Amino acid sequence: MNPNLIHPRSQDRQTVYLKNVVNDPTIEVGDYTIYNDFVRDPVDFVTNNVLYHYPINQERLIIGKFCSIACGAKFMFTSGNHALRSLATFPFGIFTDDWSVPFPEMTKTWDNRGDIIIGNDVWIGFEAIITQGVTIGDGAIIATRAVVTKDVPPYTIVGGVPAKPIRKRFDDETIAKLQKTAWWNWPAEKIRDRLDMITEGRIDELVGE
Ligand SMILES: CC(C)(COP(=O)(O)OP(=O)(O)OC[C@H]1O[C@@H](n2cnc3c(N)ncnc32)[C@H](O)[C@@H]1OP(=O)(O)O)[C@@H](O)C(=O)NCCC(=O)NCCS
Repeated sequence: MNPNLIHPRSQDRQTVYLKNVVNDPTIEVGDYTIYNDFVRDPVDFVTNNVLYHYPINQERLIIGKFCSIACGAKFMFTSGNHALRSLATFPFGIFTDDWSVPFPEMTKTWDNRGDIIIGNDVWIGFEAIITQGVTIGDGAIIATRAVVTKDVPPYTIVGGVPAKPIRKRFDDETIAKLQKTAWWNWPAEKIRDRLDMITEGRIDELVGE
């Protein structure tokens, strides 16, 4: 229950508590969120998984607590999108030297759809892609290889390209109770003492605490 560990499983170098390998003021990660990578070193998450995230647009990546991010999931920012209002797809604006474009003109080279915000207890599947400006609600599940282009409501499973809702994880009453409880904000000891209620789906006992 030490959120400051890099490798929370002593024999496992493929899984990290993500917040401890991210050193970028525009990326925030909550306690206990894990990233697993069996292809590349997970400590290189920012380089390998946060794509087209250039300082010029100042977008943020915000990830909550207790999320599970599977191998190869990626967060793709606006700078990967050449501006669609331009008559050309070619990004003239970034060739400041060769095409004599004044530096301030660079920002016009991209549209800016803003931050990517991931709630708490979100599970992002293998090689899913979350695109610019998307907000994913608490408890959502992103299926393997989904491409998420729109906001995902809390406790909703989405999949496909573009990702569409598959189903809700629980009935509306249970979802409301979970969101009100917000167990991810409890002290770690309180969560540990109630792991059986959480993992066995005993919502009424959990909220009755
Ligand atoms: C989405 C997922 C959670 C399963 O959820 P589920 O509700 O049990 O889904 P089901 O298997 O019952 O399938 C329900 C529907 O979703 C579709 N579906 C399942 N996985 C999908 C995917 N990755 N992409 C698109 N559609 C998917 C099924 O084809 C089915 O469609 P239908 O209703 O038209 O027949 C699971 O398939 C998944 O993607 N898990 C992530 C696994 C992963 O990446 N793990 C990495 C290690 S942590």
